[in-house]
Amino acid sequence: TTTAFAFVVAAYLIGSLSFAVIVSRAMGMADPRSYGSKNPGATNVLRSGRKLAAVLTLLGDGAKGWLAVALTAWVGPRYGLGEQAIAMAALAVLIGHMWPVFFGFKGGKGVATAVGVLFGFNVWLALAALASWLFMAFVIKISSLAAIVASVLVPVYAYFIVGPHSVYFGTCIIIAILVVHRHKSNLINLLTGQEGKIGEKSDVAS
Ligand code: G3P
Repeated sequence: TTTAFAFVVAAYLIGSLSFAVIVSRAMGMADPRSYGSKNPGATNVLRSGRKLAAVLTLLGDGAKGWLAVALTAWVGPRYGLGEQAIAMAALAVLIGHMWPVFFGFKGGKGVATAVGVLFGFNVWLALAALASWLFMAFVIKISSLAAIVASVLVPVYAYFIVGPHSVYFGTCIIIAILVVHRHKSNLINLLTGQEGKIGEKSDVAS
């Protein structure tokens, strides 16, 4: 329907707000796409050494994922929209983050936004994913590996928490595939032993 399409477009536009780029600009910092992994995400912003900017990026990118889903879940039913539309909005916000229309389609890897989306689906599912990511991040101290492992676990958690017949289960599989796919360069670095640890600084052009 046209309304479902409007929600999907809105979600894509919300996703296109790359907080790594927006926060960096607002704080007078270099574009995160110019240093470190060149990824506009909280992990890479942290490589600038500016912790507050990294935290704001994480919260902003997470909040937008949640917002796109929550908005469709709240307002959608008034237009006869249900879980299908919510799932489409979830994928749209993630795709917006990864390929943002506002920033030359050079977006991020979707970890924070995916967690935000999961909060919109089901709080327990989100907490399970977040706990897995945090646990892995603290133990191995490699952001990308923690994200990849957590991504693979999300469909498993979804199977048990929302059930295999839920639209959100299939959506979680697609989300996991998208997030892992965006970590291709990290996978290569991991396999060649070149992936850095969380918080290791990088030379930032100013
Ligand atoms: O949030 C993305 C993270 O998993 C990896 O980021 O900058 O190390 O490629 P980065």
